[in-house]
Amino acid sequence: MVRFHILALVWVVCYSEELCDGDCGVNFVQIDLSKNLRQTETSKWYASRAVDYNRSGQSSAQGPFPLKKPLWEYTVKGLNFHQTPCIDDQHNVYTGSDTTKILSFDQQGQKRWEIDGPSSSCQNPFLYQGVLYTSCRDGHALALSMEDGTTLWMKTYCESISSDTYSMTATEDHLFFPCGAREPYGAPDVVLVSRKTGDLLWRVNVPKFTVNIAPCMLPDSVVFNDEAGGMYSLSLKDGSVIWYTAPVHGPDGATLGGVACSPDGKVFNGFATADWKSGGLSAFDVQTGQRLWTKWVTAPVHNAPAIGRIHTHDREAVIFAMGNPTGGPLGPAVWTNGTVYAVDAQTGDFLWTFEPPAWYGAGAAGSTIEQICMPDLFSGATISQDGTVYINWSAGGITYALRDLNKDGRCELHDSEEVSGFNLGSGATGPPALAEQMLVVNTCHGPRAFSV
Ligand SMILES: *[C@@H]1O[C@H](CO)[C@@H](O)[C@H](O)[C@H]1NC(C)=O
Ligand SMILES: *[C@@H]1O[C@H](CO)[C@@H](O)[C@H](O)[C@H]1NC(C)=O
Repeated sequence: MVRFHILALVWVVCYSEELCDGDCGVNFVQIDLSKNLRQTETSKWYASRAVDYNRSGQSSAQGPFPLKKPLWEYTVKGLNFHQTPCIDDQHNVYTGSDTTKILSFDQQGQKRWEIDGPSSSCQNPFLYQGVLYTSCRDGHALALSMEDGTTLWMKTYCESISSDTYSMTATEDHLFFPCGAREPYGAPDVVLVSRKTGDLLWRVNVPKFTVNIAPCMLPDSVVFNDEAGGMYSLSLKDGSVIWYTAPVHGPDGATLGGVACSPDGKVFNGFATADWKSGGLSAFDVQTGQRLWTKWVTAPVHNAPAIGRIHTHDREAVIFAMGNPTGGPLGPAVWTNGTVYAVDAQTGDFLWTFEPPAWYGAGAAGSTIEQICMPDLFSGATISQDGTVYINWSAGGITYALRDLNKDGRCELHDSEEVSGFNLGSGATGPPALAEQMLVVNTCHGPRAFSV
């Protein structure tokens, strides 16, 4: 349901007198954080969904293996999550929620702060220079102090924003996020905002809508897919289309997945046909949009690819997964299965597969009519420094750590050296967030942190 808020309402809250010299309402400039907040490095363990501006999913942190009982969990009845958490350089964790709550926890799971955002569904944040940037259901974008959650500024840019699990992007110069809402999910537009002045720089319509957008943010362009599987590169300067490449399967696909960009100038996108009966992964030249190769698989792809170095393969690999999400908790119980793939990033050749045990149920694990959980079947993957692949199998609510040690083309479920899983009993939408020896999974029922 779209709630219409007063469009003209443009307001800014400054968190201390000293930042509000003169016209506080329009003064975004010169919020000199270094004077007021603990200086933090820009390089966080997990600054945003999929680690970096290329949304690669490749982390420099070493994750826990095997996965043991979480060190901490945070659960409040009725407080539901379809968000990806972030982790800063001190191992503090940050997350929005399906309600108005935005929360931060320390490494031990102690709550550092909790605030109410301007509306529900403040989506996947981006941590940048001591500030958490996010945007919410009612069209506000806002900046919070990472230290204590104080609102640094807040402004309306859109009449509303879709509540699918899209991600904010923050750079030195810009903020980028979707704008507007198609029900029940999907946004018609994308916007670029000056991070320093808060001015709207451009708003561009994407005819086939974006869903769960988490773009590659490159120096001069932003690269993402639409829901149909069409690929865009837009100029940061004016929003003009540098290239657009139509989907390989015809005009009417419907993927919930995203993109990842590689060091050698490729962008990868998983796709799904309109009937959700098949899908695959395509690689494109990020400069020209030329499609380089496509791998078809026998079910739709609804997660964002990850690109990085995995165990026992000496070149970059791409991780993606196929399978349809479970429905809501009301239907009859059905069997749901899915498959994770690793392919060579140069050629698309298959390296290994992994199949979790099929899930039998009405909806995803942990999904009830009181607290509905509708994650995609798999989260995006996160790849740790040693090449272990972490992924959420959301139907069954299990987080897996995967590696094909014997190079037989399979991560073997019953081989405890190759596969470690922990059943959290609830599906999770976002990729697992990784910091050194720490893995945080946001299940629908709240964050859970694994340690060594
Ligand atoms: C990010 O992706 C772009 C485009 O593919 C590439 O040129 C660049 O090297 C990548 N950066 C990193 C750090 O991998
Ligand atoms: C589900 O399992 C069947 C039978 O093993 C297999 O043919 C099919 O590819 C699987 N589907 C997915 C999405 O993995």
